[in-house]
Amino acid sequence: ARGVAAAAEGKLGLRHSQQDYQKVYDAIAEKLEQEGYDDGSLAPVLVRLAWHSSGTYNKEDNTGGSNYATMRFKPEAEHGANNGLNIARDHMQKIKDAFPWISYGDLWTLGGVVAVQESGGPTVPWRPGRIDGFEHHVTPDGRLPDAAQAQDHLRFIFYRMGFNDQEIVALSGAHALGRCHTDRSGFEGPWTFSPVTFSNQYFTLLQDEPWQWRKWKGPAQYEDKKTKSLMMLPTDMALVKDKSFKKFVDIYAKDEDAFFKDFSKAFAKLLELGVPTSQFAGDAWKMGSE
Ligand code: HEM
Repeated sequence: ARGVAAAAEGKLGLRHSQQDYQKVYDAIAEKLEQEGYDDGSLAPVLVRLAWHSSGTYNKEDNTGGSNYATMRFKPEAEHGANNGLNIARDHMQKIKDAFPWISYGDLWTLGGVVAVQESGGPTVPWRPGRIDGFEHHVTPDGRLPDAAQAQDHLRFIFYRMGFNDQEIVALSGAHALGRCHTDRSGFEGPWTFSPVTFSNQYFTLLQDEPWQWRKWKGPAQYEDKKTKSLMMLPTDMALVKDKSFKKFVDIYAKDEDAFFKDFSKAFAKLLELGVPTSQFAGDAWKMGSE
């Protein structure tokens, strides 16, 4: 009976303290650097996993979000927007094997927090409480943004999650990290010159660089005129084409502290979408490495 009780408590996360989760944090942090993979770090793809596992939320019917970790199931794993995230999920499975008591939703969202913080980004308050759901919790395809579209689409997608224009721009600043891959999204290249460092460079580049359509066989994307080594998606460019969005691009380009503060808030909110407050034991924690 003791074993059953312990297993039940383990499932509910009751027996685990902040120190226990800190051990998971440390284990994720320790394995972020991966020589030979992309720009040398798994941080960008872990941020993308955390975001895609949360961004399915619909505030109208309270479906989707990070609660049930439904990307474990084939239908959602195969949504086009999730191409390539098997790399992140397979990597996180090794962490799960070492800490089997953590739920997948908690693990993947904590992974996003570790990745942002360890790449030099802001501290993102986080707390455990997500539970593993079932395949019937999978939401329909099409809830994540389509990079080929423009501002109306961004608003349609992110307003559905409960975000406003300022939060849309702040969240988009995550594209300081990582790159596009032809075999995942069809697009190609990094947004910034330092794709493993979390910074406001995405906004300074959006604001300062001349961008032009890239001439290539792939999907329509922009390249920077000067070096032709950076890229912007049509949805990234929408942030400077739309007046209300542009206002925040200008603020974040000028003031990295403002970006870090707003990103931290919006990202913490994103990672809790779809999780009933009753599943959280208390206030969010500030985790971090020594
Ligand atoms: C990568 C689209 C918002 C974080 C990508 C890729 C696309 C994309 C097409 C390339 C995937 C690949 O080929 O590997 C979009 C669109 C968005 C959006 C249309 C709408 C605004 C966000 C948000 C976050 C985020 C809100 C996080 C807060 C990332 C990261 C990568 C990425 C870190 C790099 C992944 C890697 O290097 O493997 N995004 N994204 N994106 N996205 Fe977004």
